[in-house]
Amino acid sequence: MSLDDDVERVLYSQEQIATRVREMGEQISRDYAGRHPLLVTVLKGAFIYMADLCRVLTVDCDIDFMAVSSYGNAAHSSGIVRIVKDLETPLEGRDVLIVEDVLDSGLTLKYLTRNLMSRGANSLEISALLLKNPAPAVTPRYVGFECPNEFVVGYGLDYAERYRNLPYIGVLKKSVYEG
Ligand code: IMP
Ligand code: MG
Repeated sequence: MSLDDDVERVLYSQEQIATRVREMGEQISRDYAGRHPLLVTVLKGAFIYMADLCRVLTVDCDIDFMAVSSYGNAAHSSGIVRIVKDLETPLEGRDVLIVEDVLDSGLTLKYLTRNLMSRGANSLEISALLLKNPAPAVTPRYVGFECPNEFVVGYGLDYAERYRNLPYIGVLKKSVYEG
């Protein structure tokens, strides 16, 4: 058994992701030219996206990480979030770019954007690799792919902490989580 056997179909291949991340990086580099943005990732799902995106940026940037845990039912985001690991960087006057894996309801990021802006950031934008919901609670400035509303894994995204190391993004077979 390999990890690939649990994937129903590949949505975005390694090559498609690389091409799209490069395009996003070029756009972000143009938009932030002459500035020094702070890239913020909410662990863990976006760690690979962050690693690839920051390496195609031509602007000088800083990188920081947060970890949050949601209260309530894990399957549905409540928007009530506890910060488990906070940023180490002061945000006063910074241009913050949140690097997110999947934007679904957007409730977690709505809470976080308010929290980060209240620390005196100069600007705050969101770069989401996948957009699942056509009307999330926050509006991302950059979107990689508009993704079907299915459960996806790979390229950092997990199911029960597995599949993050798949190099592509695929739809998980229902038999994996329905037992
Ligand atoms: P939101 O607060 O509803 O926008 O939740 C989005 C978060 O849920 C993402 O940052 C992911 O961590 C997680 N998530 C949503 N959909 C998927 C998926 O299909 N696979 C893996 N994680 C997902
Ligand atoms: Mg996430």
